[in-house]
Amino acid sequence: MGGQNPYIEEAKIESPTQKYKVTFMPMNVTVEVDPADLPYDDHGLPGSILDIAMKNGVELDHACGGVCACSTCHVIVQQGSETCNESTDDEEDQLDDAYALTDHSRLGCQCVPNGKVDIVVEIPEWNRNLSREGVPQDS
Ligand code: FES
Repeated sequence: MGGQNPYIEEAKIESPTQKYKVTFMPMNVTVEVDPADLPYDDHGLPGSILDIAMKNGVELDHACGGVCACSTCHVIVQQGSETCNESTDDEEDQLDDAYALTDHSRLGCQCVPNGKVDIVVEIPEWNRNLSREGVPQDS
């Protein structure tokens, strides 16, 4: 499952026109994105962080299949967030349920870089699949 959710505001995305790199942290895996190969596997919006992660074997939870209906694909765009599409109100609403939000938090399935710079994305270690494991508790 994946693609666009017809019940939410359509995200305005600018597809990349040049190759760029995405580094996933903390595993420190860097992959190259070639616009000629997009979209990959229909995980979230075409060219989304989730789409890129899944194509390259980087584990990123996505309980709703990438249709902006959960918060399990929460990522933090550490570098290059200015080249990503703006989050919609629907994405912000879902992010409200994510644990330990930051100013650079996004839903991986809704965040599409335009490829103008390389980006660095952190997959939070505390990120849990809420439907499977419940909300993490502060100790
Ligand atoms: S996978 Fe559910 S919101 Fe991204």
